[in-house]
Amino acid sequence: MEMNKEFVTLALPGEKTYEIPVITDSMGDKFIDIRALRKDTGLITYDPGFVNTGSCTSSICYINGEEGVLRYRGYDIEDLVKYCDFVEVAYLLVKGELPNNIERKRYADLLNEESLLHYDMQSFFRRYPPEAHPMSVLAAMSVSLSAFYPEMDDIDPELQIDFAVTRLISKIRTITAFTYRHMKGEDFVNPSYKYSYCENFLNMMFNSPVREYKIDPLHVKALNQLLILHADHEQNCSTTAVRLIASSEANLYASVSAGICALWGPKHGGANQAVIEMLKHALETHQSAKEMVEMAKDKRNPYLLMGFGHRVYKTFDPRAKIAKQLCQEVLSHNGFVDPLLNLAMELEEVAKQDSYFQDRMLYPNIDFYTGLIFRAMGIPTNMFTCMFAIGRLPGWIAHWLEWKQDPYQKIGRPRQVYDGPQLRSVKPLSDRS
Ligand code: CMC
Repeated sequence: MEMNKEFVTLALPGEKTYEIPVITDSMGDKFIDIRALRKDTGLITYDPGFVNTGSCTSSICYINGEEGVLRYRGYDIEDLVKYCDFVEVAYLLVKGELPNNIERKRYADLLNEESLLHYDMQSFFRRYPPEAHPMSVLAAMSVSLSAFYPEMDDIDPELQIDFAVTRLISKIRTITAFTYRHMKGEDFVNPSYKYSYCENFLNMMFNSPVREYKIDPLHVKALNQLLILHADHEQNCSTTAVRLIASSEANLYASVSAGICALWGPKHGGANQAVIEMLKHALETHQSAKEMVEMAKDKRNPYLLMGFGHRVYKTFDPRAKIAKQLCQEVLSHNGFVDPLLNLAMELEEVAKQDSYFQDRMLYPNIDFYTGLIFRAMGIPTNMFTCMFAIGRLPGWIAHWLEWKQDPYQKIGRPRQVYDGPQLRSVKPLSDRS
């Protein structure tokens, strides 16, 4: 990052002018560095939704929203999906480099060793109503890990980080699968050293003592790809939540649990569930793609096309392109004709031709096709956002660790534009109307 070679001039009416430094990042993009703004000028900035605000420096993820580029640690998402599995990508995000064979094996061994869930924690599941939303269970269980594995509160040496990270990545998968078993009223299936990360997840979800479960290699490939697609996305809502909690020096589990809560909302990771619900509702009520698009355009109607639009991408989300292709592959392999896929593709076409969507550069995002793949794999709709969370976890951890090493390391604490009353005096209760 180049500092202070260029400046912009801030001229306040009737006052002196100020030279504000400009930073250039490693891709050549420029940022106005306002860190000293209030000290120097008495002013603060107003930017609700952080639309124009860079909150940190980061070397984890690069997005070019105009050209539809996504890279983790400099590697294109298309290449990572093609050549790596999820564990390698998790390693890349957390440690900065792709693992070699020995490092890959060691990480896989650690993931295996950390995969079981404390016996007492297992009993928690039984106290949740089976119809509880799985994201509520996942968030609570994640923060509970800090009670059962407190040594992670102080992760400093490299080895300790490896244990902490693999523990969380491994256990979140076990927790998600156990949540599903509890929803179904079935016994838990423990992880096994015989299986890879994704195979283990599928086996814990679907193995049954009364029905032989054969792990489908295409589902393993699809799961690896989906988790990679979700693994990071720079300063999105949930990652910002993780960094904000980290900035108070709360532990990793607490920070991740906040990320899970932020992810749950339908404008963020909850969109994958919302897309399927929207498509199902449309089929049940015989809405056409054209009618759905018209409803989404109507400003008096809160209806949005779920799975469309993005804060950063002003073209096709590169993850959505990969997910669409994968969706067609998985569905055709299953011989499963999903009417929801036909409607989704029609919707994409109608929206593409519509000037409202063109003018606002609204394209399908990652959540538009992923739910259809999870559905074809037998994962229930209300668990889709948990799948997103499993994928996003290495990204959250990488950002948490990066925050720990950030020399700036200030607690996150934005200012506000106060819009309330000026000083008022308190009347006695009897005098208040
Ligand atoms: N359907 C109809 N209109 C939309 C949509 C949509 N899905 N998304 C944005 N718009 C309109 C919006 O009403 C606004 O119109 P106008 O300029 O006339 O006021 C314009 O497009 C710009 O939208 P915005 O809400 O200012 O954009 P944003 O960057 O604040 O929000 C978003 C981005 C993703 C929250 C939003 O596009 C949205 O709500 N999409 C639907 C939910 C969704 O799919 N979320 C998943 C996001 S990707 C994965 C992830 O981050 O988890």
